[in-house]
Amino acid sequence: MNNKNIVLIGFMGCGKSIIGNELAKNFNFNFIDTDCIIEQQTNKSIEEIFNVFGEAYFRSLEKQIYADASKMKNCVISTGGGVIKDVQNIINLKKSGLIIYLKATPKKIYNNLKFDDKRPLLRNKNKFSTICSLLNEREHLYNKYADIIFDVNDDSPFILAKNIKNAILNR
Ligand code: S3P
Repeated sequence: MNNKNIVLIGFMGCGKSIIGNELAKNFNFNFIDTDCIIEQQTNKSIEEIFNVFGEAYFRSLEKQIYADASKMKNCVISTGGGVIKDVQNIINLKKSGLIIYLKATPKKIYNNLKFDDKRPLLRNKNKFSTICSLLNEREHLYNKYADIIFDVNDDSPFILAKNIKNAILNR
């Protein structure tokens, strides 16, 4: 994995950030959370960006962040759940490293997000059914773009990071 990145993709609430942090420690890589970078650069929360400027503007910001992140090396990159909506994001990220899909069931995602109010796409909606329909729309893209697919339903982030590291090294 020398000079490559490890790119985590997957639905909101699947654990990309927490697992990514652990994975970065395991590889002694830097950890990058693209949503956090957007918030730092704009000095606004993701919700504010959606509310004030709209989703299309958010998508243009994240596209630029993915292009920038793809130029880095030895990073674990935790992406936003919508990264797969623009194939150019994936083309850039794939050039820079390995794409790992953290696959979770709607039930697991719902459990992780049931008290969360920071995801504009799930706000003021029936959360479980929105998760199901959005995941249904996106799942084939997560599967298609992944180099490795990893089930994250059962184990702790600590164990998952160790297992993902082994899967990468034994690939
Ligand atoms: C989004 C996922 C969020 C964030 C934004 C849009 C999506 O990131 O980028 O709310 O379209 O799935 P997480 O996957 O980290 O929740």
